[in-house]
Amino acid sequence: MREKILNILLDKNKEFVSGEEISEKLGITRTAVWKHIKNIKKQGYEIESVTKKGYKIVKCPDLLTPEIVKYNLSTSLLGKEIVYFDSIGSTNDYAKEIAKDVKEGTIIIAEEQVKGRGRMGKYWHSIKGDGIWVSIILKPDIYPYEASFITQIAGASIVKGLKKLGVDSLIKWPNDIIINNKKVSGILTELGAEIDRINYVVVGIGMNVKTIDFPENVKSMATSIRKEGYNLERIDILKEILEEFERLYSNYIENKDKTECIEICKQNSAIIGKYVYVLKGDEKRKVKCIDITENGNLVIINDNNVKEELISGEVSI
Ligand code: BTN
Repeated sequence: MREKILNILLDKNKEFVSGEEISEKLGITRTAVWKHIKNIKKQGYEIESVTKKGYKIVKCPDLLTPEIVKYNLSTSLLGKEIVYFDSIGSTNDYAKEIAKDVKEGTIIIAEEQVKGRGRMGKYWHSIKGDGIWVSIILKPDIYPYEASFITQIAGASIVKGLKKLGVDSLIKWPNDIIINNKKVSGILTELGAEIDRINYVVVGIGMNVKTIDFPENVKSMATSIRKEGYNLERIDILKEILEEFERLYSNYIENKDKTECIEICKQNSAIIGKYVYVLKGDEKRKVKCIDITENGNLVIINDNNVKEELISGEVSI
């Protein structure tokens, strides 16, 4: 009921709606409406109430709660089920715990992670309210060796989503999104699989949106949307990413069509045409990146002048 009232108020787009109209629409008393409004206010919504006019939303809280994320979200798979935490260890860890029992498209969102994880066992700094810390649970009918393509879908949807909001960013294959050579977002794709079938894929996306101060050890390499001069809300970015992700993912799964995703990855690549270092354990090789294949693999010319295809790896510019 609370969510229904909230949606009526949000639909009015900052205009007044009378208590009478709400009570008639929902078949509850005006006192019940008033009680729900009181609760909604407690959650951080600023609601103006004026006698004879009714209620209007003045401001929504800067939170990624399920009702705010679901409102006007045009997806039919991603975000139908949302699990929300004010604080959690890691949304990826939680997603893996529940993956087998939930529907494909379920997403886990947290305002803060206290054990946020990056790739290669690194710690991912996830301060409360500063960024988007989200994990998407997928159950694609593909082989485990094909799953790395889903990281490319995530990268493409982040870049495209940001572009729609006026932000230019680039993909540093395979899983970093950068602005002005600094990392603004990272993807951690994890798999629950048997040798020849996938049980689930968890795609973790972390994006620094409002962060101003980074810890010393990442300061020179990290940035945020705000630090780059954009005053965007987390909710708007998250919705764009989810909508783009669903479009590219459905195209891949239902139509086996990877072309748009690969086009986005190629056109917005931070490394194609450049010399980079490929890191593996203690090994560091200087190579030239020349292309991304239709499967999302990186094509390089190695130090012996021989063409090679990389399926995964760590690249430094
Ligand atoms: C990386 O660049 O190394 C990947 C970073 C991924 C961070 C996200 S935040 C949401 C999800 N939960 C985690 O613990 N990690 C991912």
